[in-house]
Amino acid sequence: MVIPGGIDPHTHLQLPFMGTVAIDDFYGGTRAALAGGTTMIIDFVIGQKGTLPLDSWRQWRDWADPNVCCDYGLSVAITSWSPQIAEQMAELTKPEYGINSFKFFLAYKDAFMVNDGEFYEGLKQCAKIGALGRVHAEAGHVIAIKQKDLLSKGVTGPEGHTQSRPEELEAEATNRACVIAAQANCPLYVVHVMSKNAARAIAYHRQKGHVVFGEPIAAGLVLDGSGYYDPDWTKAAALVMSPPLSRDPSTPAALMDLLACGQLHLTGTDNCTFTCAQKRLGVEDFTKIPNGVNGIEDRMSLIWDRGVGTGKLDPMRFVAVTSTAAAKIFNCYPQKGRITRGSDADVVIWDPSRTRVISASTHHQATDYNVYEGMTVRGVAETTICKGKIVWENGQLNVEKGSGSFVPLKPFNSFVFGANAMKEQAMQPTCVPRELPIDNVPHPGNSGVEPINVDAPSGANFARRGQQPAGGASSITFD
Ligand code: URP
Ligand code: ZN
Ligand code: ZN
Repeated sequence: MVIPGGIDPHTHLQLPFMGTVAIDDFYGGTRAALAGGTTMIIDFVIGQKGTLPLDSWRQWRDWADPNVCCDYGLSVAITSWSPQIAEQMAELTKPEYGINSFKFFLAYKDAFMVNDGEFYEGLKQCAKIGALGRVHAEAGHVIAIKQKDLLSKGVTGPEGHTQSRPEELEAEATNRACVIAAQANCPLYVVHVMSKNAARAIAYHRQKGHVVFGEPIAAGLVLDGSGYYDPDWTKAAALVMSPPLSRDPSTPAALMDLLACGQLHLTGTDNCTFTCAQKRLGVEDFTKIPNGVNGIEDRMSLIWDRGVGTGKLDPMRFVAVTSTAAAKIFNCYPQKGRITRGSDADVVIWDPSRTRVISASTHHQATDYNVYEGMTVRGVAETTICKGKIVWENGQLNVEKGSGSFVPLKPFNSFVFGANAMKEQAMQPTCVPRELPIDNVPHPGNSGVEPINVDAPSGANFARRGQQPAGGASSITFD
């Protein structure tokens, strides 16, 4: 089969995180992506709290540009709030910066987390500047307390990670994020949907007419969380990621069903890899185990195997959820995500009948552990062509450091924002012009009946009497 190259909309290459740096960098990570049939990634710029988004964006460009072997876009995380950050968000949507999405963490208290007010302000700004809001939905405050409780009871191993983050907390935060996004009239993209109830929350808000996209990731579509109880610390710690893998063994298949029927929309990996030695930073305290798993190389095969191989996805839907939907949501379609005249020649020759065994001993990633170790998967990228050049063939990579380009992503994407302006109009606040009963209320300085001036805010809807004045605010007198 000849298919468009995969697009992984969620990676963290060389992310400085939890006292260390993710081991797969922009060179190794994108090489591995190509070996698995992925020809574009969207990585997250995540500055430490207090760092300005523009500075972090520059840092990511400096890291990525000389090293990437495939094209990449960026999505910027907003980890605190101020008028200056709001201004920089607007700046970042200009063509020279190419950002059309911003991510907010509702987890990682004292690190990346924003509070609900900051999240709401951030989403309002996103809506104004035509950027998609993205959210890591977990209840960070509750998690922090649960972590302390578990540690105080002597639960220090990776099983504490899953127990401190019950699925209900993901579902609650997903619902909350959707509610807040609707209030801000901002299209929302929920990253790493890991549980059935989080997916149900997304479906519920979509049914109410909100624009919400749900991204399950390879790990959540394939693995469950039983491994957190593995007696082998290294194996259990390798699975530590947030939100955690679901402890309900039926979740991976259920998420695939939702992906098949369109209630979830595209797949990423959240690739954020740490070696076994790095994971050991948390050997005495599960809250210090760096969070993240691999996937950038194996996503396409895993989804083919568990999706197409089970009869849940047809090959067209496979292409949609691994490539085309991402191109449409991030506004680079049909440059990416499609094979047609004028599109980038990012093409994969896919062998649906071949199988391969996933292993850290053969993968191309820098990490020494693969959470899919030993799995035999159907569906293999036989040849990967990136921008017209064969970069993967006969099991050999032929890539050049820095040959990939930054893909600027434009705001006000009609695929995402098509209904937004009309929604905004419909959401204008309602102002009821009325006579206030102040004549009957004894209070100092009010001695009798007087005409009342009502200042009509620009754009307000009037529920009865009076009309919205043309040209904005003015004063209307009612007697
Ligand atoms: O555990 C995870 N997911 N690590 C990467 C950072 C994030 O939350 O996306
Ligand atoms: Zn996350
Ligand atoms: Zn992530």
